[in-house]
Amino acid sequence: MTDTTQQAGKKPDVVVTRRVPQPILDQMAEAATLRLWEEDRPIPRETLLGWLPGCAGLYCLLTDRIDGELLDAAGGSLRVVSQMAVGYDNVDVEACTARGIPLGNTPGVLTETTADLAIALLLATARRLVEAAEFVKAGQWVTWRPMELTGRDLYGSTVGIVGLGRIGKAVALRLRGFGCRLLYTQPEPDPEAANLGAGYVDFETLLRSSDFVTVHTPLNEETRGLIGAEALALMKREAILINTSRGPVVDQAALVEALRAGQIAAAGLDVTDPEPIPLDDPLLSLPNVVVLPHIGSASVATRTRMAQMAADNLLAGLRGERLPNTVNPEVYNQREA
Ligand code: DGY
Repeated sequence: MTDTTQQAGKKPDVVVTRRVPQPILDQMAEAATLRLWEEDRPIPRETLLGWLPGCAGLYCLLTDRIDGELLDAAGGSLRVVSQMAVGYDNVDVEACTARGIPLGNTPGVLTETTADLAIALLLATARRLVEAAEFVKAGQWVTWRPMELTGRDLYGSTVGIVGLGRIGKAVALRLRGFGCRLLYTQPEPDPEAANLGAGYVDFETLLRSSDFVTVHTPLNEETRGLIGAEALALMKREAILINTSRGPVVDQAALVEALRAGQIAAAGLDVTDPEPIPLDDPLLSLPNVVVLPHIGSASVATRTRMAQMAADNLLAGLRGERLPNTVNPEVYNQREA
């Protein structure tokens, strides 16, 4: 690909929609002139539309909506979109592909960290950790009472994993150590599941049989609203729902109803719809719900690696090379055709 800006000795322009660690910004700045959104909130769409014309690269986050209008705003100069996340449901991939623009993401690097958080949510909800900590701070800890703040055992329970991908498998591996019986569901069985001791069942069987249901699917048209009223009605009354994937996989209004009606026992959510969840959302008033602010991958090491991987994708795209991690590799076939 001919890079006219490089031919002219000028660095290509790149929009970076949020501050990432300085050494990574410095590395990108060696190859490109950065237009960095400095504020600690998403860049307003109008600003992004105004910044993009003439840019060769876009380094974005899951809080940015990337669609055809936005890609066109770059005016044909855009050579790469690099998202600092593994999930990319905020990006219109077809629109990227139609314009021959590779989209980069950060698979693999956040698997273990997100699996750790899923386990943390399983334990937090099962053993009522948030309620218990608040109980202490509120001065309600008067004495040791036999049945006070009693929860459920994760140990020895049946856990249903919806989506045995990278993160689902990492969760399964951890749960073996808790002596759990593992079930999983997804469109096709996975040959590796036997090594994890996870049994393949259909969605309905998983819902009916599990003490805990933990969701690890990407968000797409098949999974949007997957855990809705019907699914919740099939779950055990003592069951606990965990979601660390994407908020819209769960129908939140249906979840509130199910929790209020005692159809299921509790929920632990790292993701909501919308994000951030409004403060007056009824979920936040329920004592048996733990809501976290999308921190599944939020360890210093993992977020730094994600930022670096996204920079590596961006820099490769600017050089006209294949991105180390491309969501839509078919763009390369189009170019070769
Ligand atoms: C991702 O990368 O998709 C995660 O949701 C960010 O934690």
